Amino acid sequence: ERSLLGLKDLSVSEIESILSRAAYFDAQAEKLNPILASKFVANMFFENSTRTRFSFEMAEKRLGAEVLNFAAAASSVEKGESIYDTVRTLESMGIDAGVIRLKPEGVLQEIAQKVKVPLINAGDGNNEHPTQALLDLYTMRQTFGELRGLNVSIIGDIKHSRVARSNLYALQKFGAKVSFCAPNSMKAPELESLAPYITLDEALKADVVMLLRVQLERHDKGIDMKADEYRQNYGLTEERAAKLSPKTIIMHPAPVNRNVEIDDAVVESPASRIFPQMSNGVPIRMAVMERALIL
Ligand code: CP
Repeated sequence: ERSLLGLKDLSVSEIESILSRAAYFDAQAEKLNPILASKFVANMFFENSTRTRFSFEMAEKRLGAEVLNFAAAASSVEKGESIYDTVRTLESMGIDAGVIRLKPEGVLQEIAQKVKVPLINAGDGNNEHPTQALLDLYTMRQTFGELRGLNVSIIGDIKHSRVARSNLYALQKFGAKVSFCAPNSMKAPELESLAPYITLDEALKADVVMLLRVQLERHDKGIDMKADEYRQNYGLTEERAAKLSPKTIIMHPAPVNRNVEIDDAVVESPASRIFPQMSNGVPIRMAVMERALIL
């Protein structure tokens, strides 16, 4: 039984094994493969989600697990119950694993040490979003075959991005080159020694152009740039997308602010992998749940 809290400390062989099991599940014609029959899994979302929450549920149900869905807004969290007490409550009732998304930093590590069931990180503040990066790696491999030597530009709100952090840690382990591009207010100073900040023109020369959502809800002092100014300076406009190399792919973890970080028409253009990323989230999460409960 194994937790998945982040990719920073996960070995290349562990990541390889998740990607390879995901490929196995992806290739199955049958939707149902009930290897988790009689296992109970709680999806505990203390922060909103569409993709992660539903692709975990899809993955768990495809593997035959019994699924309990917990949404903080409809729970005793509204009465002031802590995240830890909520997880302990569900553990006491007999869940076999928990999938958890949280806003506050540092809480996940602490809870994982105190509970016995495996916990899967479904988005941990600004820290890590490991299953998103795993599905991103899987998507890059589908196009390029190899991660070694790939140039990946991550553009946008790096400061508030757990997706950028998990991708950085994982891609570098596989020998890919990660660069960031962001306005000053969206740079993460603690990552500057790990990846260079480059101009947008340089960033658009990469094999993978990964856009991030401007996370207005996480900017506590507001944002010093308006949406149209952001689009002019950092957005993947139709004009800029037309100049990309034909080999370059466009990625975005979504939700997308259409016509801010990426133009409407580019979201579903042939170079875009945004919807394949969402499809790939299901087999990746099947592999992660299998690892948590069986392997
Ligand atoms: N990419 C992602 O984590 O999306 P949700 O916030 O909708 O889960």
